[in-house]
Amino acid sequence: MDNILVVDDEKNYLLVLRQLLENSGYRVFCAANPNAALKVLEQEQIDLVLSDLKMPQMSGLDFMRRVREEIAPLPFIIITAFATVTTAIEAMKNGACDYLLKPFDNDEILLVIDKALKLQRLQSQNQMLRRQLAHNKHSQIVGESNAIKHLLHQMQQVAPARTSILICGESGTGKELVAQELHRLSPRRDNAMVSVNCAAFAENLLESELFGHERGAFTGATGRKIGLLEAANGGTLFLDEIGEFPLPLQAKLLRVLQDKRFRRVGGVAEIESDVRIIAATNRDLEQMIDAGTFRDDLYYRLNVVTLQVPPLRQRSEDIPLLALLFLRRYARECGRTVDSISAEALQALCTYHWPGNIRELQNVLERGVLFCDGDELLPSHLPLTLIDETDGVDMPTIPVGNGKTLPEILEAVEKNLIEQALRQAAGVQAQAAASLGISRSNLQYKLKKYSLL
Ligand SMILES: Nc1ncnc2c1ncn2[C@@H]1O[C@H](COP(=O)(O)OP(=O)(O)OP(=O)(O)O)[C@@H](O)[C@H]1O
Ligand SMILES: [Mg+2]
Repeated sequence: MDNILVVDDEKNYLLVLRQLLENSGYRVFCAANPNAALKVLEQEQIDLVLSDLKMPQMSGLDFMRRVREEIAPLPFIIITAFATVTTAIEAMKNGACDYLLKPFDNDEILLVIDKALKLQRLQSQNQMLRRQLAHNKHSQIVGESNAIKHLLHQMQQVAPARTSILICGESGTGKELVAQELHRLSPRRDNAMVSVNCAAFAENLLESELFGHERGAFTGATGRKIGLLEAANGGTLFLDEIGEFPLPLQAKLLRVLQDKRFRRVGGVAEIESDVRIIAATNRDLEQMIDAGTFRDDLYYRLNVVTLQVPPLRQRSEDIPLLALLFLRRYARECGRTVDSISAEALQALCTYHWPGNIRELQNVLERGVLFCDGDELLPSHLPLTLIDETDGVDMPTIPVGNGKTLPEILEAVEKNLIEQALRQAAGVQAQAAASLGISRSNLQYKLKKYSLL
């Protein structure tokens, strides 16, 4: 049910309009002057305002301006007995959606209200769609694996709250990207997201960077400095590499998390800042607690929610998608024509174990684009470490479903592995057997079986 606020200094009109609108299924609020109307607007969820033009305290136009600026861009319909063309034009220019003359016709007024409400609904729907579109367009987290879908789902669940979040994951997995996305998914998205790399500062520098300082707090503090915690008020503070956060400062940070309060270095006054803290680390904080280098109370406060960013090797389904994305990005940047990845190169990319995760994948593709003159990225454009490693794993090329049975495929794989082990051991059987983890007699049996002798 839509809520309509009627503002008129003539009691009779209020009565007539209330009855008419209530009979048509609207919930009606009445105010005899603009000040009373403003109070109603603050307390109730009003969908449309029907206002007289000439009123004692404030003209209908001024009232409309105030509401639209201070409260919400609500649809307004102005009614008056003294219409002139200029006031009508002015009302519309200031955002009124329609204009009605007293005495008005009941059907006409209902029609005008209905039209204005429909328009308003369309506009807010449009706005919502635009916001959704903007969200999809800017989401930079690429991936279709279950692991990444699970992470994205968790992010959507936790982003709206003010709760602190701890993002854990190996180096290069995308922790910073996750932090940025969390900020964008939160109601704080229009305020600042301030990032601090805790490993990049010495202890006292980090303190004044985060908490700010007063003039004269230490030698060289020539003026007051506003810290990043204050700068991020209303927004998000991203503490990257929290594992490097100096132990003596940890208690001060804990206090911010608990009470939202802190003091500038050298300051007496308590400062309040409404900041959401997101921290990231690739270190094992629990181990650090055991070693006495990380406070357990801070840890428990930070990890109210922990998000694990999976390493790339645990979501190798995402590699082709990410590789193609980076390939095209770098090709565009370097003006190259390369646009696809050969099956062999893709296999090498998918089987490598990626200790540097997505950052390493990015670098490999960037380098590959530089070496590639054609349209297709080939294994020869990839670093040798990748190819060498893959050599050992990419031999089960016998596709399943070509009439071969599982034992046949497994035998082919086994034969291939044995050949490779022998090559690497330069034909020394004892060494090959050791690297395969089987006994020498077992190796000899297999060599005979596969006619490798
Ligand atoms: N899912 C993803 N889709 C697309 N690009 C990604 C994705 N995850 C990470 N990246 C990119 O990979 C690079 C490394 O990501 P990021 O810096 O967020 O990692 P990190 O976990 O913070 O690493 P470190 O621990 O070394 O600081 C960035 O350039 C980032 O844009
Ligand atoms: Mg990082």
